[in-house]
Amino acid sequence: MSRTSTQVAGVKFDSYICNASGPLDASFEELQSLGESKSSAIMMKSCTIEPREGNPEPRYVRLPHGAIQSMGLPNLGYKKYLDFVKDLKKYSKPIIASVSGLSLDDYVVMVKEFQKSDVDLIEVNLSCPNIEGKPQVAYDFEQSEKILSAIRNLGKKPLGLKLPPYNDFSFQKQMAELILKYDIKFITCINSIGNTLVIDPEKESTIIKPKRGFGGLSGEYIKPVALANVRAFYELLNGKVSIFGVGGVNTGSDAFEFLLAGADAVQVGTVFEKEGSGCFERINMELEEILLKKGYDSIESVKGNLKYL
Ligand code: SIN
Repeated sequence: MSRTSTQVAGVKFDSYICNASGPLDASFEELQSLGESKSSAIMMKSCTIEPREGNPEPRYVRLPHGAIQSMGLPNLGYKKYLDFVKDLKKYSKPIIASVSGLSLDDYVVMVKEFQKSDVDLIEVNLSCPNIEGKPQVAYDFEQSEKILSAIRNLGKKPLGLKLPPYNDFSFQKQMAELILKYDIKFITCINSIGNTLVIDPEKESTIIKPKRGFGGLSGEYIKPVALANVRAFYELLNGKVSIFGVGGVNTGSDAFEFLLAGADAVQVGTVFEKEGSGCFERINMELEEILLKKGYDSIESVKGNLKYL
């Protein structure tokens, strides 16, 4: 067992770092590459009932410290991901399905099917900001509760929620109450900060095409927001629910900050898109070195131990 091995919702992960649902995880070939990489899990692209091409290009633009994107859930449709699971089992690492319904029924259908599959965890994405006319569900607590109530008893595999950033403790408190009431086993905090705007002053124009240039911001820009959400939920959920931290993890030191805030594991998206699969081993080795230097022999011995001034 390595110093950075961990558990999420009772499922063992060989290291603290895996990919985030989003970049480079939609096709079978990409998922195989994740299987061959040092990502500690194979997280699949958020899927919908029908295949989707996604939003028009340009829809993903790298920025000096992250990226703005409005992909629009390009994916092959949930049935293909169900098919892929059998072949991906050979990599002997956790497989995580991510479902993004366009209606309540969609969530029920997809959760029910993945419950019957060989995936290890099911992430329910309540926070995609990039579908025109579809608000991010997790900002609507009534609608979120309807979905949670409909999917809670469809099988025994741990269910998780992919959450958007909240910037007021009252929102995190309301969501935490739902998470505990419906026995959600893990959360993924945070999705990109939705509907941000980047302007090219030379061209006097937006830089992505969909939604008149409004898109999800990711990478280093959002790390303080992600850390705050991880910490707030860690305190509210009293260790009863596992937490994936996501948002601006580029280095082992970033991962260590998420560990202090209370994350059980971190996911990387923007840096994976930029650097490729070498990022998993690099970040994990950097984290190992930090733990070794500080004399910590496990994730568990540091998790959540943030000091207050
Ligand atoms: C997208 O495909 O638009 C990104 C997915 C998400 O933000 O949940």
